Amino acid sequence: MNIVILAAGMGKRMRSQLPKVLQPLAKKPMLHHVLDKARKVEGADRMIVVVGHGAEAVKASLVGQDDVVFALQAQQLGTGHAVMQALDHCDDNEPTLVLLGDVPLIETETLDRLVKVAGDEMGLLTVKLPNPKGYGRIVRVDGEVRAIVEEKDATEQERLIDEVNTGIMVLPTRKLKDWLGSLKNNNAQGEYYLTDVIAMAVADGISVHTAQAQCAAEVEGVNSKVQLAALERAHQLQQAQRLLEQGVTVIDPARLDVRGELVCGQDVQIDVGCIFEGKVVLHEGVKVGAYCVLKDVEIGEGCEILPFCHFDGAVVGQKGRLGPYSRLRPGTTLADETHIGNFVEIKKSVVGHGSKVNHLSYIGDTDMGARVNIGAGTITCNYDGVNKFRTTIGDDAFIGSDTQLIAPVTVGKGATLGAGTTLTKDAPEDELTLSRARQLTISGWKRPVKNK
Ligand code: UD1
Ligand code: CA
Repeated sequence: MNIVILAAGMGKRMRSQLPKVLQPLAKKPMLHHVLDKARKVEGADRMIVVVGHGAEAVKASLVGQDDVVFALQAQQLGTGHAVMQALDHCDDNEPTLVLLGDVPLIETETLDRLVKVAGDEMGLLTVKLPNPKGYGRIVRVDGEVRAIVEEKDATEQERLIDEVNTGIMVLPTRKLKDWLGSLKNNNAQGEYYLTDVIAMAVADGISVHTAQAQCAAEVEGVNSKVQLAALERAHQLQQAQRLLEQGVTVIDPARLDVRGELVCGQDVQIDVGCIFEGKVVLHEGVKVGAYCVLKDVEIGEGCEILPFCHFDGAVVGQKGRLGPYSRLRPGTTLADETHIGNFVEIKKSVVGHGSKVNHLSYIGDTDMGARVNIGAGTITCNYDGVNKFRTTIGDDAFIGSDTQLIAPVTVGKGATLGAGTTLTKDAPEDELTLSRARQLTISGWKRPVKNK
């Protein structure tokens, strides 16, 4: 099937440098949502994106997506004119499905239904709206679709019709080529309307079959930031609904944002204000406290994440206790039963089974064994201003508070470091190592007094 996606429009009402179809919904450009849904349509093979306004940026956003070809519409002369630009890429023997780059919430299932009802004739996706203002109206006679009239060309009577054109349709390609060739632009907007082909199809004796969208949000077009924000909420609510149906406890479905893919095991609980980005996996029984931002992480069974954590690119084992206010950065792996506390940052490090980093620490480029205790205020000094070095901490080591480990350095198994140590050489196994000026008391010392 040929799938043509119209994405040449300017989107003036967005008041943005960014082309309209690249405006993000759930952190992904609207056009990419459409493409992802289009790819899964039965029989989808080639996707032709019609670009115009901001063409270079739109193309650049799709580098590496090899199933997409571009057709340039240098001047935006209307939706019919836009489809015309894509025709060279369309195979006559397959139907053509037209999608809009600014209708981001369209579902694959709906498109499959539309293609099916169309057969080798015409299929038109419509929706009934309580307020149809701005949309093309579906004109029916005895229940059969006869034409679409644009709002600006419609009579008072026609404007009362509440069934509207979603802009999404499927057409027999050979016929489409004929019809587009005879489009005229003698209408209120002086544009070549794709919608005019409906009346042409009817005149040619081709039936126009219709399918309905599942809900209005699915086919709503975005022309302004106001509409974008409304669809963002609709989309987030749908995702929260889906999670609830799967048995996830979402404390408040209105305060959840999933900007990617969230996979949850049984009995997962998510408190308010959390943002999930990229691919996040929460295994069975994970509890996520309020206001956490989790990106590309996998959290093991039974972990409890307290509020205000920020995790990015980390894998956490089972039964961990993390936060509040913990930060895990890319390349971090925590084994089972670790405790990571407040104001602790961990980067590109492995933390072994049962180890604890409870307060105010920076652990970077570190390999830490099991049952290690890291005292408050510990810092691995991994960077000399030019290069990064690793720190190795053996099983059962105990690092006293306010210690700096100047990497590369190794702390042996069972070693203890005294509080306040600046470790510049390896600390041997099972011994106490400390670097600290001896404490002394000067008896009889007097505080200075102010000169008269
Ligand atoms: C269009 C339909 C209208 C429908 C509505 C649904 C026409 C004439 N009207 O109206 O019946 O109810 O969509 O949202 O088709 N585009 C181009 N090149 C152009 C013009 C538009 O690529 O020259 C693209 C835009 O980027 C956009 C889409 O086509 O993605 C729709 O264009 P827009 O101008 O928003 O059409 P509407 O007036 O909303
Ligand atoms: Ca529109």
